[in-house]
Amino acid sequence: MDIEEKKPAIIDLLTESAGAGDKSAKNEILEGLMEHQKRIPSKFFYDGKGSGLFEEITMLPEYYPTRCEKEILTYLWDKLELNAGDLRIIELGSGDCSKIRLLLTCIPEDQLRNVFYYPVDISAVAIRDAITDLQESFPKLEVKGIAADFTSQLHMLPKGGARMFCFFGSTIGNLDSDEINMFMTGLGREMAKGDQLLLGLDMVKDISVLENAYNDKRGVTAMFNKNILNVTNELLESDFDPEMFDHKAFYNQKKQRIEMHLQARRGMWISCNSNGTRIQLKKGETIHTENSHKFSPEQIEQLGEAGGLSVKAIYPDSKEWFGVVHFVK
Ligand code: AVJ
Repeated sequence: MDIEEKKPAIIDLLTESAGAGDKSAKNEILEGLMEHQKRIPSKFFYDGKGSGLFEEITMLPEYYPTRCEKEILTYLWDKLELNAGDLRIIELGSGDCSKIRLLLTCIPEDQLRNVFYYPVDISAVAIRDAITDLQESFPKLEVKGIAADFTSQLHMLPKGGARMFCFFGSTIGNLDSDEINMFMTGLGREMAKGDQLLLGLDMVKDISVLENAYNDKRGVTAMFNKNILNVTNELLESDFDPEMFDHKAFYNQKKQRIEMHLQARRGMWISCNSNGTRIQLKKGETIHTENSHKFSPEQIEQLGEAGGLSVKAIYPDSKEWFGVVHFVK
């Protein structure tokens, strides 16, 4: 075997155009900062530092979603009653691949030989690190990483075979409600009859539990939130000072979502050297950085309808704070 073959295989779709309406990261951020309620899309949290901070968040005592979902994923495989022969698992937003590990661990070794695993993530670095570790643990598994933006590049993912899409972490909750519908329609259209989807959803619950999960005592979520300004500075050649902002996270009951904002401690002007624009922020003004929708049991079936998917089963954790939904087309 030559050395080339040992390098983790990654396909990079990020450098390719996603088609009409494709915007550069720079323009996408600039447009958001020009709106009346300034915003920066949450996908820009995840540079190397941001991905690391998010992993730290998942271990915080207040941040329950990851623990709850992992509890589900440890018992899930046997319940699915799937034949792993020629199964193609496509995981959207795979991150450190720690979730798929829990499923793969339950697949008998002789079946694992026929399983393909495609981690898809916006961070090529995260994929590279994760699949190196994964292949050490599961040498029989075929793994091919895909760096892509799954909000715009679903149509570019691998086709054919018995596909099982996985979208864990309630990451779908980061989209707004129109985008959620568009995403589910697009994914359903992309799926062939018989294809499956495992969708992780954070459920509506007691507001103090929700708000504490995004306002941890150690301030890791605050650091994660502020880091989006470092990412922005890189992309726009701008001069945001993250320390001039306060982290704000609260539950918006009407919209059924946690919102994260960065609030300016004082009035300021920001210069963007990449194109010479200046942006004014008033004291107390916020930049909206994230929505994290929470779901009610009644909404679950409706999520699948747009894309022609039906609910086969819903798997909860013991507190019923989180759910993994098994959809089939
Ligand atoms: C990975 C997007 C699901 O919304 O809970 C964690 C990200 N933001 N703490 C979430 C996040 C603040 C997380 N998702």
